[in-house]
Amino acid sequence: MYFEIVKKIRNIIKEHHKFYDEALPMIASENISSPLVREVVSCDFQHRYAEGDIGNRYYQGCYYIDEVEKIVVDLSKKLFNCNYIEYRPISGTIANLAAYAAVAKHGDKMISLSVKDGGHISHTDISAAGILGLNIIYFEFDVKRMNIDIDKSLKKIREERPKIINLGASLFLFPHPVKEMREIAEEIDAIVIYDASHVLGLIAGKQFQKPLEEGAHIVTSSHHKTFFGPQGGLIMTNDEELYKKVKKKVFPGLVSNHHLHHKAALAISLAEMLEFGERYAKQVIINAKTLAEELYNYGFDVLCPDYGFTESHQIAIDVSKLGGGDKVAKKLEKANIIVNKNLLPWDDIKKAQNPSGIRIGVQEITRLGMKENEMKIIAELFKRLLIDNESESKIKQEVINLRKKFKYIEYCFVKSPAYKYYEFEVLE
Ligand SMILES: Cc1ncc(COP(=O)(O)O)c(C=O)c1O
Repeated sequence: MYFEIVKKIRNIIKEHHKFYDEALPMIASENISSPLVREVVSCDFQHRYAEGDIGNRYYQGCYYIDEVEKIVVDLSKKLFNCNYIEYRPISGTIANLAAYAAVAKHGDKMISLSVKDGGHISHTDISAAGILGLNIIYFEFDVKRMNIDIDKSLKKIREERPKIINLGASLFLFPHPVKEMREIAEEIDAIVIYDASHVLGLIAGKQFQKPLEEGAHIVTSSHHKTFFGPQGGLIMTNDEELYKKVKKKVFPGLVSNHHLHHKAALAISLAEMLEFGERYAKQVIINAKTLAEELYNYGFDVLCPDYGFTESHQIAIDVSKLGGGDKVAKKLEKANIIVNKNLLPWDDIKKAQNPSGIRIGVQEITRLGMKENEMKIIAELFKRLLIDNESESKIKQEVINLRKKFKYIEYCFVKSPAYKYYEFEVLE
């Protein structure tokens, strides 16, 4: 009887795959992984435990797991040019929580970006930082440049003396002032943590700032946004003492089973990044800039026109004149264009369900092989749907037609359909 439900679930998932195969997936925090990454995600590692360190586990049966995790460590050090890597956090949020717990205690202050200025919830009192009991204060923000206001924030840091200076963001258009924050951190004995979740693939491809070299003590990240991995988190540092503290907070602190199949797949994605990362990251940034400029020329209020719109994979648009982020994101979804509504700095946090903005990321469509020409086509589709009010069904059909030419994943070792559903034969 319940097999009917199983069939139903599989069909729903197949429909989901078909939907994405005919859509423009432009959520800035997502990506598709290669068939090799997906193959490894489905391996037997997903059934195992490997508590402890490589070569020194609390469980037997870890010989091959050790072999793979040694590769994760070696490739991470090479790709990110770092001395120490803690690859076991199972998400970006857990990586942040571990890093915060390693260097601060209940009641200590941390300065970060507020959510409306682009910060992630884990940087604030409603999530990881709050669970740890950190006292959160916020950077002063320069809305014109969509970046931290350095002078005003330095003044605030001198007065407030936070224990953690937390950089990085979810709405992350331009590199953050790491060098300046490290200098003041030295002055007040603070730790600079840089959350690279959004831009890890761009850092790996050498097309964004180099947070460790610029002075961050610790870099935390997820490995599935601009990066090619399955979902998961990691932490890097060049400081041995900090590494030891971080490591303890990860295990036994926050992770028992570190989702070994995801870490094996991370190994594959590290190799993919070493091989293809630079070419991919360059194209991501070219695509973001091209799309931003085309949208701006059509009359959209793309943020930061005086500063080149973006240096990352993201674009932010104020769509309040078009009815707000909620209405616009839903209209785009009906035309198979998937973006998210987003708070902008001038929004009241209470407006989170209908903020002024939308956020767009081009990393996934870049991985599908799209280039400048497609960005121009997409900008025109946005204009026809949202400004000229052409019908959703007409634009949807054009999206489906456009996607017919981009069925494969690029920047990887094998050619395979992007949104294929790997179906096993089931005997009833
Ligand atoms: C800047 C930033 N940090 C952390 C996270 C959380 O990552 P995860 O979803 O892996 O917990 C996100 C997620 O979007 C993010 O944008």
